[in-house]
Amino acid sequence: MQIDFANLQHQYQLYKKDIDENIQKVLNKSNYIMGEEVDQLEELLSEFSGAKHAITCSSGTDALLLAMMAMDIQPGDEIITTPFSFIATAETIALMKAVPVFVDIDEQTFNIDARKIEAAITDKTKVIMPVSLYGQPSEMDEINVIAKKHNLKVIIDGAQSFGATYKQKMEVHHCDIYTTSFFPAKPLGCYGDGGAVFTNNDEYAEKIKMMRVHGQNKRYHHKYIGMGGRLDTLQAAVLLAKLPHYQEEIYSRQAVAEKYTQMLSSDLFTPNVKAGSDSVWAQYTIRVQNRDEVQKRLKEAGVPSAVHYPLPLHLQECFEYLEYRAGDYPIAEQASKDVMSLPMNPFMTDEELLVVVKELNATI
Ligand SMILES: Cc1ncc(COP(=O)(O)O)c(C=O)c1O
Repeated sequence: MQIDFANLQHQYQLYKKDIDENIQKVLNKSNYIMGEEVDQLEELLSEFSGAKHAITCSSGTDALLLAMMAMDIQPGDEIITTPFSFIATAETIALMKAVPVFVDIDEQTFNIDARKIEAAITDKTKVIMPVSLYGQPSEMDEINVIAKKHNLKVIIDGAQSFGATYKQKMEVHHCDIYTTSFFPAKPLGCYGDGGAVFTNNDEYAEKIKMMRVHGQNKRYHHKYIGMGGRLDTLQAAVLLAKLPHYQEEIYSRQAVAEKYTQMLSSDLFTPNVKAGSDSVWAQYTIRVQNRDEVQKRLKEAGVPSAVHYPLPLHLQECFEYLEYRAGDYPIAEQASKDVMSLPMNPFMTDEELLVVVKELNATI
């Protein structure tokens, strides 16, 4: 048996009729840029999340840039974030000429450790940017208390967590701006690049809408320096066909995760979701000591696996200028050595789960 990691093909076959029809409609109308499908999708995303404003854009990376542009982040401003994430989190901060200031992670959840944030705040700090890694929200109550005390804004990089809840509410309600990604392999993915910015703040929303069209407030009149950051109509058409199934898919992902945790040996480190949070399981990530060997064994049994992420952000070559060193964030550094993500998608069968679990339990 060869197991598929995200099984996007199976999903396409399930929703093929609607996806094909939606794409064909766009082709028939040739409304490729900011077509009505984009407006329809934004309305449904706003309904789904309860956010006052849902603004689609060209990627999860651009969503982060748009969020920081809306907050008027300036060169030299400091933004506190996690060193254990995809590069885009810190890369976009650096693109704004701001400074990513890292805070080590909680070893149970892999998210930023809220207890360590306050020590990293200086008079240049403007934003706290937690990342909901693998689909699980960070400790937002604790983070918001700190933000309020120090008059900081909060942007959640929710590229992996769209649909996750914290204290029964979606994450947009626990921050100033929430961003997500519709990269194909994300829990809600389109068929290319895509993303969205969510906020309950009217001023931010208005600015983000301008920023994604080159800062334009009237055709060919540019109030701000913005970017070409729109979502393609074709991608909106794909998402319109997928969104009605998304909540069910989240429940299925949660059921798959629960089965993994029950079936895997208790001697393995399985993921922990904190009480009050609900993960959408972008990844089901365990820790193993001899990762290379385990990955090889799984591969031979037809089980793909992945490492998110093998090198923490503070040790990336592009951030050498920040002069961080190995040892600065020991928990993130250890995680980068031993995390391993297992196949995860809403369509995983018990038969597939058994194959993965059998191989892993045999490694102990
Ligand atoms: C945590 C995180 N932030 C940002 C991004 C960037 O999203 P995109 O690939 O849509 O630009 C990703 C996606 O890969 C991500 O996982």
